Amino acid sequence: MISTNILQAVEILKRGGLVAFPTETVYGLGADAQNETALAKIFQAKKRPLHHPLIVHIASLQELNDWAATVSPKALLLAKTYWPGPLTIVCKKQSHVLDILTGGQDTIGLRIPHHPIATQLLKTFGSGIAAPSANEFTHISPTTAEDVLDELDQRVDLILDGGECAVGLESTIIDMSQDQPQLLRPGMISTAEIEKLLGEPVLKKTNQTRAPGMHFLHYAPLTPTELKDREEISYTIKTLKQNDLPIACLFYSDLTLPENEKIHCVGMPKDPKDYAHAIYHQLRLLDQLHFKRILIEKVPSGVEWEAIWDRLTKASAVRETK
Ligand code: TXA
Ligand code: MG
Repeated sequence: MISTNILQAVEILKRGGLVAFPTETVYGLGADAQNETALAKIFQAKKRPLHHPLIVHIASLQELNDWAATVSPKALLLAKTYWPGPLTIVCKKQSHVLDILTGGQDTIGLRIPHHPIATQLLKTFGSGIAAPSANEFTHISPTTAEDVLDELDQRVDLILDGGECAVGLESTIIDMSQDQPQLLRPGMISTAEIEKLLGEPVLKKTNQTRAPGMHFLHYAPLTPTELKDREEISYTIKTLKQNDLPIACLFYSDLTLPENEKIHCVGMPKDPKDYAHAIYHQLRLLDQLHFKRILIEKVPSGVEWEAIWDRLTKASAVRETK
């Protein structure tokens, strides 16, 4: 059920239910971070393997130490600079933190989201809310309340409606639990920006099996999706057979293609922030139209595009399990 009733949402969380709520990045599927049974429901609803840790959302900096055992000065600097905002910080966890939250690891991911409904929900609830993106495991994250309904419907007790998510891509995740900061998932707060603030390089290569995006496929539409450069798309279109149609193309450049009602073209924004805001919504729409394939034009390189590259690469990985 879609609603705007925060008090009802808090009641549901208190009795161990699931509430989807908006953040500035994507919608989260929330449960009381201290209730093991409630947390188990998240994994069930998402069909997510149990060893994938959850992010805990908090309302204020003061709550950081309730969850993190050690917060280095640099981790604190990141938190003070970017929170509330699209950055998740991984720290060593407090001993009381449930294993189901952390996948049995000794670290925990924390973030203060920047969305008035998330803020109100967290403040009224009064404690941490664990929330992965409110989609089935490996699917595209939802950026509207209706998207959550499409993804999870009966599996969630309430969906708080906060309109479209402003950022549209999941948060940047940075592991601050080791000596050197390590990027676990790129987001719209770029690695370059973080390196500048911290005055040291951020490790990018991840060898953690539980880190986000270590899958062959993630953040992906169900329709086979390919990432190609402009020339490859033109060539593919020219050589298509009748059987290959209909297809959809997401363009970054102003490419004009031969008129064909079975080739559905969408022009994407030129600005990386606008592109990020639009991409999941577009992919979700195209997925619902059941094209044979989705072709996505490669985007420029450059720090502002790193998160978009990451998600497009994952969206176009080969789906092996479905
Ligand atoms: O923007 C976001 O981060 C959204 C909104 C709802 O806050 N949440 C989100 O959660 O994207 P989720 O679970 O879909 O992605 C979080 C990723 C997971 O892939 C998980 O493996 C990783 O963060 N993660 C969480 N805690 C971690 C930890 N302690 N160490 C390493 N990775 C962690
Ligand atoms: Mg997710």
